[in-house]
Amino acid sequence: TRPLSVGIAGLGTVGTGVLTMLRENADVIAARAGRSIAVTAVSARDRTRDRGISLSGLRWYDDPVELAADPAVDVVVEVIGGSDGPARALVEAALAAKKPVVTANKALLAVHGAELAAMAEQTGVPLAFEAAVAGGIPVIKALREGLAGNRLSRVTGILNGTCNYILTVMRERGREFTEVLHEAQKLGYAEADPSFDVDGIDAAHKLAILAALAFGRPVAFDAVYVEGIRQVSAVDIAFAGELGYRIKLLGIARRTDAGIEARVHPCMVPLSAPIARVDGVFNAVVAEGDFVGRVMLEGRGAGAGPTASAVVADLVDLARGRFTPVWGAGSGALSDAPSVPMAAH
Ligand code: NDP
Ligand code: HSE
Repeated sequence: TRPLSVGIAGLGTVGTGVLTMLRENADVIAARAGRSIAVTAVSARDRTRDRGISLSGLRWYDDPVELAADPAVDVVVEVIGGSDGPARALVEAALAAKKPVVTANKALLAVHGAELAAMAEQTGVPLAFEAAVAGGIPVIKALREGLAGNRLSRVTGILNGTCNYILTVMRERGREFTEVLHEAQKLGYAEADPSFDVDGIDAAHKLAILAALAFGRPVAFDAVYVEGIRQVSAVDIAFAGELGYRIKLLGIARRTDAGIEARVHPCMVPLSAPIARVDGVFNAVVAEGDFVGRVMLEGRGAGAGPTASAVVADLVDLARGRFTPVWGAGSGALSDAPSVPMAAH
């Protein structure tokens, strides 16, 4: 079988991570995919930048939309970021050209997921996004496949690695917010605009995606209540510790009689709860189903390696011809409950 030819748009933390993983683990990946997976084309803004990785032999596109039009590219990986602009234009162009897309872009999916899912489902083209939620934790697969027989009542999680890293370092070393944020940025955890992390928006993007999967219908991003961690001080964290609590930024989505409630805000979590002990860049997702009970998944939620792991898992699925509809079921199949704007509560 001929190799699956991949075009990667975006060569920052995630894009270079994907390229590295596909090269270093080529043998195991080919064995699991049933064929080799080769990157043949790339796109980024600055052609001259040293990215610490060889790009020789790869076709270069300044415009990512042109990468989607490359007839030798079978699958497009979008790791540029942003809910609009080049990322959206690229994903739409790829789906219109009937090319499968793998994206790590939760902002794009939270804001335009319903339209993109409709486009993908109408044309029968896969749109895969394991990397968009909780980095290296295979949570999309777990909700869609592992828990497929359950009615889920609630999904809770630590969904932002940057915030969890900041809160952990503030607690362990008594340091203040701004200096720890700079550290998280250097480690490649933060978004291009880190206010998306610290103001809870990134966690809300991920929660909207998880809620859509858990409850079987798109969830309006605007209806998610969002509060970040800027107001949390080292003193708050120390006092919470003395009382037997950890302060965590949680995303919580649950089915209520009135509809789906979704919110992101800092919470006092008792140390007896396993999620209280998830520290550093780690994320955790807790799902509650009627037959399975409570399931908790934990792992690194950001950074080059964990995110590449999730992108490559999607590429292996595509190489194998495995394909699940975007929300895991036909649109609106599982629930017609409206999103409940939390501001109304
Ligand atoms: P970076 O900022 O490190 O990289 C973004 C890349 O996109 C850069 O290579 C940049 O080019 C390129 N780019 C920007 N604009 C354009 C354009 N107009 N045309 C072509 N290329 C462009 O971001 P990350 O790698 O951190 O994140 C990428 C995506 O993955 C985002 O959606 C993010 O939310 C998501 N994600 C990130 C994770 C992480 O831990 N970092 C984890 C999970 C998801 P250049 O290098 O030339 O400037
Ligand atoms: N900025 C994000 C985070 C990247 O810190 O969780 C992973 O989605």
